Amino acid sequence: MIQIAVPKETKFKENRVALTPDTVKDLIKKGFACTIESGAGLNSFYTDEMYSSAGAKIESNTQSVYANADVVLKVNAPQPSEIAWMKKEAVLISFMWAATNKEVVDASANAGISAFSMDAVPRISRAQKMDALSSQANLAGYKAVLLAADTIGKILPMMTTAAGTIRPSKVVIFGAGVAGLQAIATAKRLGAVVECTDIRPETKEQVESLGGKFIEVKGDDSIKIEGGYVKGVSEEFLKKQQELVAKHVKEADIVITTALIPGKKAPVLVTEEMVKSMRLGSVIVDMAVEQGGNVVGSELNKTVVKHGVTIIGESNIPSLLPLNASELYAKNIITLLYHLATPEGFKWEMEEEITKGSLIVHKGQKVHPTIMN
Ligand code: NAI
Repeated sequence: MIQIAVPKETKFKENRVALTPDTVKDLIKKGFACTIESGAGLNSFYTDEMYSSAGAKIESNTQSVYANADVVLKVNAPQPSEIAWMKKEAVLISFMWAATNKEVVDASANAGISAFSMDAVPRISRAQKMDALSSQANLAGYKAVLLAADTIGKILPMMTTAAGTIRPSKVVIFGAGVAGLQAIATAKRLGAVVECTDIRPETKEQVESLGGKFIEVKGDDSIKIEGGYVKGVSEEFLKKQQELVAKHVKEADIVITTALIPGKKAPVLVTEEMVKSMRLGSVIVDMAVEQGGNVVGSELNKTVVKHGVTIIGESNIPSLLPLNASELYAKNIITLLYHLATPEGFKWEMEEEITKGSLIVHKGQKVHPTIMN
């Protein structure tokens, strides 16, 4: 019988946990055994008692949690020293960002384990239930609007009062991916006037269907789009884009940036000049801050005021909604596990698309194309 273990997350400001009591119950019903590190769920408001009544064993020694597991489930990748505690041929499943996280890949190979990365699960329709990038980005898009709304010092909807009419706030969103679309929907629900820009042409219709106004920036030959992702843009294009969106940013009360290029540094979309042009007291949330940032002046995990504009650089926004974020992540991860394994063991269907896409290290061998060079 496969022994699953969930250690406590140790990353700065991480409140999420890889399994909830409900998912533990489901795993046990299906024939898996679960061990949860004592206190692992507390920041998501799940107590040890809730896990043990769901059927899990509670273990307080971190090393034992890793050392006795056949499968370790985590949100963030463990430290190399923690991976070294794992049994040879055990399996790790977590976010890994393997292309830029050589230490974790090397530690997994050295420990002789297998490692699947949640961020590498292919975004195909049959894997939607395993898509943790989407489940977390969706929540982050919602929360980013609330963070901005809570900071701005004015209301978002139009309000007619005896003392006069308050005009609605204007929100400008960069990037209409999963986070951006949820940010549009949330800002609309709060009554703001919303504009959004993206360089994938199909996003125009998606933005408009949510009631947003699309800011069209005509693309050029330098834009590379593969499988629905922007893979690269030239500096010249970014300059042209900055000029075109500048007047929208100048008039915005809130700017939310979500633009990412997978595996690369995030594109700079809001220059210092654009920040300077905004009204005193305006707010920017740079959701790409961990990937280098879309906004000049944003700082990782800090809220700073530049030229009278508050720039929020919170890197782990899903962690601010730990109840929902853990709930959805746990569903994503057990769905992947059920796809890959039965309680008796892993299937190792090496040519199957989801296995092939998400398997980074197999029994100590580095196998994923993104880490082969
Ligand atoms: P992401 O987080 O990689 O990027 C966010 C957004 O930034 C994207 O919409 C991208 O086009 C945009 N962007 C990049 N450079 C930009 C620039 N210079 N200016 C303005 N915007 C820029 O994207 P996310 O949210 O992870 O999703 C991207 C793609 O994946 C979409 O095509 C989406 O439909 C697809 N997807 C497919 C799923 C499935 O089929 N299961 C599930 C989720 C997403």
